[in-house]
Amino acid sequence: MCGIVGAVGHKQCSDVLLDALKRLEYRGYDSSGIVTIHDSAIALKRAVGKLVNLDLALKETPLLGDIGIGHTRWATHGGVSNENAHPHVASGRVAIVHNGIIENHRTIRARLEAAGHQFSSDTDSEVLAHLFVEAFDAGLDPAMATRQVLDEIDGAYAFAVMAIDHPDLLIVARNASPLALGIGDDACYIGSDAIALSHLTRKVVYLKDHDYALVRADGVSVYQADGTPVNREAVIVAASPGLVDKGGYRHYMEKEIHEQPDAIAHSLAAMTNEYGRLTAQMSDEALRSIDGIVMVAAGTSHYATQIARYWIESLARVPVACEVASEFHYRQPATAPYNTAIAISQSGESLDTLMAMRHAAVCGLQTIGLVNVPSSTIAREADFVLPTRAGPEIGVASTKAFTAQLTVLLCFAVALARAKGQIDEARAEAIHAEIQALPSLVGKALGLFDAIRPVAHQLSQAKSALYLGRGALYPLAMEGALKLKELSYIHAEGFASGEMKHGPIALIEEDLPVVALLAADAVMAKASSNLREASARGGKIILLSEARAAAEVDYASAVITVPDVDPLLAPILIAIPAQILAYLTAVEKGTDVDQPRNLAKSVTVE
Ligand code: G6P
Repeated sequence: MCGIVGAVGHKQCSDVLLDALKRLEYRGYDSSGIVTIHDSAIALKRAVGKLVNLDLALKETPLLGDIGIGHTRWATHGGVSNENAHPHVASGRVAIVHNGIIENHRTIRARLEAAGHQFSSDTDSEVLAHLFVEAFDAGLDPAMATRQVLDEIDGAYAFAVMAIDHPDLLIVARNASPLALGIGDDACYIGSDAIALSHLTRKVVYLKDHDYALVRADGVSVYQADGTPVNREAVIVAASPGLVDKGGYRHYMEKEIHEQPDAIAHSLAAMTNEYGRLTAQMSDEALRSIDGIVMVAAGTSHYATQIARYWIESLARVPVACEVASEFHYRQPATAPYNTAIAISQSGESLDTLMAMRHAAVCGLQTIGLVNVPSSTIAREADFVLPTRAGPEIGVASTKAFTAQLTVLLCFAVALARAKGQIDEARAEAIHAEIQALPSLVGKALGLFDAIRPVAHQLSQAKSALYLGRGALYPLAMEGALKLKELSYIHAEGFASGEMKHGPIALIEEDLPVVALLAADAVMAKASSNLREASARGGKIILLSEARAAAEVDYASAVITVPDVDPLLAPILIAIPAQILAYLTAVEKGTDVDQPRNLAKSVTVE
């Protein structure tokens, strides 16, 4: 996740900006930069790689000036290069830093290029700099210019703007990406979170979605989307904040749910090569040698493997076995048809998963570690590493790491299928395009909190709940049930919809909540009739579904819809309302959302 920092009114601010960027290193990045205004000119330094490179560049030629912005970038649009690193400067007058994705950047860029604007990067972000130049050229003041720009852009963003025409202020705005404003004695600051600013001030104002603000040395003016000034109260953050802060959210889990568009986009970027094609980080020859895969994992990561099995088998025609890691090791499995093991772990440290991966290696399988922590033991010991780039996940119940794992596994399935000649380039590209659209669809699904709140209120009264899904939504039903039970302590089980009639249907009684997952896929009609049976026996159906599948259902007591999507991606998108439902139910019950009883984030015992 990219990091944003800024200062206004701080003497020779580039040093404190570099310090602030260092505090954001935990979010991950591949390049960085700082820009200041000095002597009515913009001064810019950018560097690829670690911050030490930017530090060296700044030591060679220090940046002077009391106003500046800085950025650590994790590539999404455009490769890792100096030109694509932020800040971006347009016409030598406006500099911007941005975190998130401007979804309609192509249209905007085409319009601006036709009007004579010259772009110098491949990023989506650069359009922001040019849009502000255009607005200032039209004579708009900073607040009006910001409204005009916000009206034109779609997507998730936190951004900061600095302009030669207004050298005493920073313009900032946010929608779905975090942004904190720091209030100092004679200066003000901005940061992706309060930790970035902890060496500068403890007084912090968190912007809400769609807010924008003008930040001057003597204070901040915050506006709502419609331009009305609004007072967002300053809070005093802890003297030594932890590794990661909550960014104004009530719980880490709520924040991490909201970080999923970014986590998915960055994980996709990690699985895209320099030619813009999906890659599995292995040569085609190595991929072709994969005859069968055993996937080992625990908890939520295990359910990610089960969803991936549908993708890998149907696209690449490679047999997949999904094993609970703690079982694989000790049941002395016959591994004959399989020559590859994938160990999937957010932390990369779950001992069960590590032991299972080691056991697979002893059995002669090549090993792939799919981890969110690149320095973890599993990453160090695996033959190949597939990275998720979800950033640190603090909430014990996994959310953004799960959807990032699914994104990477789908990319892997596509790369494997292409290398094996099971799908052609056109099909691979079509799926790639669907995955590229996913961050935006997930962003839309994040708007479901209010719709889900009354459903969660009802669910919080229940003693027990069933989750049903068919096809790739079956493992998601188990994951949804796990989320509910671990967070709210309500007993919940996930079943394959088609298995209902073979036993679980005996559990259905009047008003039993049945959370039904449905997509417009090949098994929709069958899944729907399984749900109808549950409904006919008194089960109270809570439907989490794509819009077009929901249109076929007339028996649900609550319907929560996500945008329509290629059925392949439905498990990733429908995971969002399932997470929100579990989260809000736990909030209703008042449980310890981020640290549920008896659970640990990373279990390092067998
Ligand atoms: C613990 C956590 C789960 C997590 C599982 C696997 O049990 O409570 O939320 O899914 O470990 O963790 P890993 O880091 O290996 O993905």
